[in-house]
Formats: sequence, structure tokens, C-alpha cells
Amino acid sequence: MNAVAIENEAELAINPLSAHIGAEIGGVDLTRPLSSAQVSAIRAALLKWRVIFFREQFLSHEQHIAFSAQFGELTVGHPVFGHVDGHPEIYSISKFRKATRFAGQSVLRPWTGWHTDVTAAVNPPFASILRGVTIPPYGGDTQWTNLVIAYEKLSAPLRTFVDGLRGVHRFAPPQGASGTDAFTKAVTDHTLVSEHPLVRVHPETGERALYVSPGFLKHIAGLAPRESQVLLELLWEHVTRPEFSVRFKWEPGSIAFWDNRSTAHLAPTDIFDLDFDRQLYRTTLVGDVPVGPDGQKSVSIEGTPVGAAAAVALN
Ligand code: SIN
Repeated sequence: MNAVAIENEAELAINPLSAHIGAEIGGVDLTRPLSSAQVSAIRAALLKWRVIFFREQFLSHEQHIAFSAQFGELTVGHPVFGHVDGHPEIYSISKFRKATRFAGQSVLRPWTGWHTDVTAAVNPPFASILRGVTIPPYGGDTQWTNLVIAYEKLSAPLRTFVDGLRGVHRFAPPQGASGTDAFTKAVTDHTLVSEHPLVRVHPETGERALYVSPGFLKHIAGLAPRESQVLLELLWEHVTRPEFSVRFKWEPGSIAFWDNRSTAHLAPTDIFDLDFDRQLYRTTLVGDVPVGPDGQKSVSIEGTPVGAAAAVALN
């Protein structure tokens, strides 16, 4: 860690990676139970930097689950795509898990693929913890963006306007998808639709975040279709601006831990132009129901809340 590392009671080395988002954390062994000072310092770093990274943490599935459980209750690996056999809490992020993801999208945009995890559910996971196992020697970086700074950098009149809006988030097959592949079938069988505030008040910090997950947010409630499309495109372009974001180069043993209440992220697609394999594993922590600046909560339109993995294990 270099000279800008920030001091804290738990003696973690916290090394910021950009002005607004991302810090690499050293001085801790995640294979072992953490002290309460370490848990507090990591949680504080997560709230401040939105996504935090650890290097050379070679965790087993069990250690990944144990580390995650120190920060909240684990969800089932993925509410639509399931989990790793024998580990209801772990979701496998393999290279070809969603090869057909953009199949129906004839026009790719700069924000295509950016998303916040499972925002089509009424209670999206509050955090995600992704562990790199098989990593290409080059390519395959992940990017995150800070939705709080994105909100704060809007003009005051636009902030006031979006404060009162709500958006419909939908997890459904892409337009034009054939309906026969495993991805399309899983999504068809587990369709999730929820209406969330367009501006989410962070339950721990009180900050406002522009809650506009491009992959799931389909339209703004109450606006005409063209109004909704143009406003969403403006907001999606805005939230994915490079100065609000950070890009992470994975190594085997890297961990990324992010706050889904204040970030969106982009999985890489350049890996499909390379022959290298890529395998990561993810856990997610049970989230609450978002609340807007007016105190109104999100509502579920279709599907069920994202439950704890423990409930799946009992069934
Ligand atoms: C994810 O979207 O959670 C996965 C990100 C990645 O594959 O880098």
C-alpha cells in the first residue's frame, strides 16, 4: 500500500483508487474471523468508497460465506439463476453464464450492461461480494459507478424533478430472445417486476442516490413513453460518466465488495473476444425495501422478495 493509505483503529490500509469511488484494503486476512473493529472499519470504508477491493485472499466457498455473514444475512446465490451445488449462498459467475444476454439488442449503447444487482426485486441485495478464482491475464475488468455523486452532480432543478419520480424495474427475457435457451427459460420462469423511487435515500447514510439501474429499469411511471425514454437515456449516460467510476483489474484471490444501494456496475464483455477462461463466485446480502425522498417505499408488481439462503437450505 502506498503513502496515501488512510489510518484507522483496525489498522487496515485503505488506499483510495479514484476521487469518488473505490478503495483497495490491505492489512487483513479474510480467511479468519474478523475483530469487531475490523468489521466496523470495513463497513465504514464500504459506505465511504462504495466498492472496496482486497488482494491475495484465497477463500474457499465456506470462507467466502463466513466472511460475508459478518456483514449481513446471505441471500440465495441468485433468485433467478440458482446457486452452486451444495452451497445455496454462492452464485457462479462463469464466462458463458449469460452469453445470450445482449442477443436481442440490435443497438448497443454506452450504458448497455450497466446494472445494480437484482433491482427488479422489491428488496434488492444490499451488498455483493465477488471472489476471483480463474482470471484472464488481460481483459475481464469490472467497472463500478457512484450513484450518489451522480445525483449530486445533476443541476438543482433536475434533482428536484427526479426526486418525485418512480421507475419500473423488470427482469424479463430480452426482446427477440428465442425462449428456448437456459437463460431465457430461467428468466421467463422467475419474472420479477418492482416499482422503485428514481432517487433512493441510503438507509445508513441518508444520502440520495440516482437509482437508475440501466439493465433493469424499463420506464418511468406516469411519463409518456418518449418522455421516459429520453429522460432515462440522459440519466444513464450521466451515471456512467468515467469520473464517477472506477475500473478494477482482477487477479486470482481478488475480492470486490460493493454497496448496491449506491452503485451500479458493468461486467466485462471483452472476455468473449479472448480464449481465456474467467470464473468468479458471488455472495449477496439480504437488502431492505428502498425508500424515496418523499418516504414512499418501493412496491412489488410481480415475483417475490429475495429471501435468505437459509430458507432455501431448509426446504
Ligand atoms: C456481476 O455483475 O455481479 C459480475 C461482474 C463481473 O463478472 O465482473
